[in-house]
Amino acid sequence: MPRLEPESERRGRAVLELRALSKSFGGLLAVSRVALQIFPGDRKAIIGPNGAGKTTLFNLVTGLLRASSGEVLLFGRDVTRWPPEKRTALGMARTFQVTSLFPGLSVFDNALLAVQGKRPMKYVMWRPLLSYGEVCGKARFLLARAGFEDRREVLVRNLSHGEQRQLEIVLALAGDPRLLLLDEPTAGLSSGESQEMAEFLRGLDRELAVLLIEHDMDIVFDVADHISVLHFGEILEAGPCDEIRKSERVRAIYFGNA
Ligand SMILES: Nc1ncnc2c1ncn2[C@@H]1O[C@H](COP(=O)(O)OP(=O)(O)OP(=O)(O)O)[C@@H](O)[C@H]1O
Ligand SMILES: [Mg+2]
Repeated sequence: MPRLEPESERRGRAVLELRALSKSFGGLLAVSRVALQIFPGDRKAIIGPNGAGKTTLFNLVTGLLRASSGEVLLFGRDVTRWPPEKRTALGMARTFQVTSLFPGLSVFDNALLAVQGKRPMKYVMWRPLLSYGEVCGKARFLLARAGFEDRREVLVRNLSHGEQRQLEIVLALAGDPRLLLLDEPTAGLSSGESQEMAEFLRGLDRELAVLLIEHDMDIVFDVADHISVLHFGEILEAGPCDEIRKSERVRAIYFGNA
């Protein structure tokens, strides 16, 4: 009988692995024994009703919250007790459910700040690792790669909401992460803007692993190839998009039996 290889043997080392990860807030079990593996180039989505525990799960991955039990492995290292900045330094970036740009500054100045923030200057006070010219070059490169070159001098507050959400993702890439966590990138966007976001997300570097929280099913089916359905903190079902789309259980619970 042929031996069935585990996913890790076929696809190398997991970028992110969650093992029986749980978080309780007092009596409320917000995340319950969640298991998940993400490999380079994966596009995975987490869906679930309001309050299902999606953002809490992201906070456990990034270290904003401490797990009650279980483990978080990033690039093969157990980071369960690590603070956020140490985890990020391994090669992880995230965006938030609400925007975090500087609206009164230009797109380029926002990019400069994002690149500057990634410079490991703290330990080499006498000589910055990147010169000002290098920081500018990196900022220009980031914006050009994402098609923002023509809007470099525009004040962020004058960008459309959709453009702002895209810019946030561009800036999250300033530290060259290998894992990107996106918390509802289409929150508050019009349907046209959401479509543009989906296109933008499909254009991201194929080597990058992306974990996406999203309410908009069209976007999920457009961008992700694997979905985990979270319900009251537990993974109710996980699988390829087609499987989830057809699941009666998921329909009943997530789509209200639509
Ligand atoms: N810091 C906290 N203290 C106490 N309870 C919390 C805290 N953060 C979240 N919760 C609770 O944990 C549950 C999960 O919340 P969470 O924000 O993770 O859900 P979500 O799936 O992201 O929801 P949404 O789709 O509305 O963004 C909710 O019942 C919420 O009220
Ligand atoms: Mg949330």
